[in-house]
Amino acid sequence: MSVSVFFCTFDAMKNLATRRSIRQYSDREVSSELLSKLLTEASRTQTMGNLQLYSVIVTRSEEMKERLSPAHFNQPMVKQAPVILTICADFRRTTRWCEERNAQPGYNNFLSYQNAAIDALLYTQTLCNLMDEEGLGYCYLGTTVYQPQLIIDILQLPKLVMPIATLTVGWPAEAPSLSDRLPLESFVHNETYKDYTSKDIDTYYHNKENLEENRHFCEINHKETLAQIFTDIRYTKKDNEAMSATLMETLKKQGFI
Ligand SMILES: Cc1cc2nc3c(=O)[nH]c(=O)nc-3n(C[C@H](O)[C@H](O)[C@H](O)COP(=O)(O)O)c2cc1C
Repeated sequence: MSVSVFFCTFDAMKNLATRRSIRQYSDREVSSELLSKLLTEASRTQTMGNLQLYSVIVTRSEEMKERLSPAHFNQPMVKQAPVILTICADFRRTTRWCEERNAQPGYNNFLSYQNAAIDALLYTQTLCNLMDEEGLGYCYLGTTVYQPQLIIDILQLPKLVMPIATLTVGWPAEAPSLSDRLPLESFVHNETYKDYTSKDIDTYYHNKENLEENRHFCEINHKETLAQIFTDIRYTKKDNEAMSATLMETLKKQGFI
C-alpha cells in the first residue's frame, strides 16, 4: 500500500514538474469515457459548503467551436482541439435546489459570484492535473472573461451562471519546452509581506528578462524593457478598463451584482 502511494505521488510530481500548455493537437479522439472519468475524478476537489458551485459545458461539434472562436479572439486552438470545456461559476443549480426545497436562496450578490468562481477555478485546476497524468494536452483560455456575454449567448447560460475558464483539450501534437518561473523567494513571504526594493526586482526578474526569446520580443516590438511588452501591448490599461466595465455589466445581467 505505502509503495503504491509512494509511486502515485512520485508520478504526479513528475508530471507537474514537466507540465506546460499544449496548443496543437493530433486528430486522435478524446473518448467520452475518458473525459467522463476525468470530469468525475476532478469533482473530488474541495468546494464551498460542498455545494460544487460550478458547471462544465462540453463542446465537440464543429458548429459550436466555430461560434465560440470569435469570443476567444479566434485563437486557433478553439477550432483545432477535439474538445472545448467551458467551466462556469454556477449558483443557478443550488438556487433551484433551494427553491424546490422551501429554502430562501440569497446568492444573487458579488460574494456568491466570488465563491462560485473560486470553486470553478479549483475544479478546473484539478482537472488539468488529472489530464497531465493521462498525457492529455490542454490550454487555458483567459479570453473567457474578456467578452463573456458572447459565450453566455452561445452556450445559453442562465442567470447566476458565469463563464470562468475555458480549456482546449486534445492529445498533444507538439512538445514545447518548459516556460520559466520566478524564483521561490520572489513570491514567498515569511510571517509578513516584505515589499520589493529595486534590487529585489533586479534579482527576481533577471532570468526572465535575459531569456533569448524575451530579448527578441523586445527587439521586434521596439520596446526598451520586457515589462513594456505587457503594459503597452499585451495587457494595456485601456483594454483592462474597457473589459472590466464589460465584465461588471455582464455580472449585473447574470444577477450577481
Ligand atoms: C488565467 C490564464 C489565462 C490564459 N490565457 C491564455 C490564452 O488566452 N491563450 C493562450 O494561448 N494561453 C493562455 N494561458 C496559458 C499561459 O500563457 C501559460 O500558462 C503561461 O504562459 C505559462 O506557460 P506554461 O503553461 O506552458 O507553463 C492562460 C493561462 C492562465 C492561467
